[in-house]
Amino acid sequence: MLVLGIDTSCDDTAAGVLRAPREILSNEVATQYDLHAAFGGVVPEIASRAHAERVTRVIERACDKAGVALGDLDAIAVTNRPGLVGSLMVGVAAAKSLALALDIPLVGVHHIEAHCTAAMAEHEDLDYPFLALVASGGHTALYHCREPNVVELLGQTIDDAAGECFDKVAVMLGLEQPGGPAVSRLAVDGNPKAVRFPRARVKDDPLGFSFSGVKTAVLYYLKGPGGKRDQPDRDDLDVSYGDVAASFEQAVVDVLVQRSLRAVEQTGVQDLVVGGGVAANRRLRADLHARAPEGVRVRFPSMGLCADNGAMIALRGAEMLAGGMTSELDLDVSATGEAAL
Ligand code: KG4
Ligand code: ZN
Repeated sequence: MLVLGIDTSCDDTAAGVLRAPREILSNEVATQYDLHAAFGGVVPEIASRAHAERVTRVIERACDKAGVALGDLDAIAVTNRPGLVGSLMVGVAAAKSLALALDIPLVGVHHIEAHCTAAMAEHEDLDYPFLALVASGGHTALYHCREPNVVELLGQTIDDAAGECFDKVAVMLGLEQPGGPAVSRLAVDGNPKAVRFPRARVKDDPLGFSFSGVKTAVLYYLKGPGGKRDQPDRDDLDVSYGDVAASFEQAVVDVLVQRSLRAVEQTGVQDLVVGGGVAANRRLRADLHARAPEGVRVRFPSMGLCADNGAMIALRGAEMLAGGMTSELDLDVSATGEAAL
């Protein structure tokens, strides 16, 4: 069965083709960083317009790269939640048109569930039940994926997402977006122990996350108490920007690793997967492997499957279709992820 997956949930226009259940034939993404750079964040209106302009070509490229014609497709999977409503609508409209024209099933996919299952494409032995840490620009949460369509939320951030925090710290350090890779590159030569940034706990929630404190701590470190100094003055700092980046990165990674391993301990589930853009972080990858107790199997997707992509939507869609789940052509979108199928 060939499934086309489409994701336009935020600022990436993505499409990929999967041979069910797990073989990825193509995974094409058109990013929009350049369009939003001047605004310091994703501008929803600009994102939707860019999706509308690009989505058809990205789908065409995904089919070409996979060596399949539109007529070969057996189903269309599309992210319909959560995300920016205007952006989601573009992908969903494209998916509905294709499903109608080709007379094949349509399935609306939850974006975060797709991040949870992305690692399955490259780890054939990975099976349910497993735990999933999803850390991206919009989400940071731990899930217990019990069965293909039974997912339980164990804990999530009460404020910023981990990726969002990387993006904001990148701005403070004068780096480009997306901030995660930029901060990470700067951190390579830095000392992660140079500055002790906070590792926040959430009261009465052992698997909860909070990243706004570490973000503020970096701001105050660079711009003085209260963040009042206009420009961070490198000469006033005791350490280099590389040290600040490495120390910040270590603080975030420590929390992600600690909560994930606590979830393993609490549930007794020995398989842990990571998904979302932050899963591309090299320090997180190294530390989680190094600190996981013996017997715990930690799996990351390859870099192209960490960030938003169409192949993971196709993979999750194929799993839903195998469970008899499909969507009607009046499929709706939802910003929060609450919508019915
Ligand atoms: O999953 P994703 O592509 O989109 C969302 O669903 O949000 O995640 C994007 C986020 C951005 O915040 C980006 O800065 C972060 O993932 N990111 C990273 C790295 N690569 C991407 N964060 C830390 N280290 C990285 N290497
Ligand atoms: Zn995502």
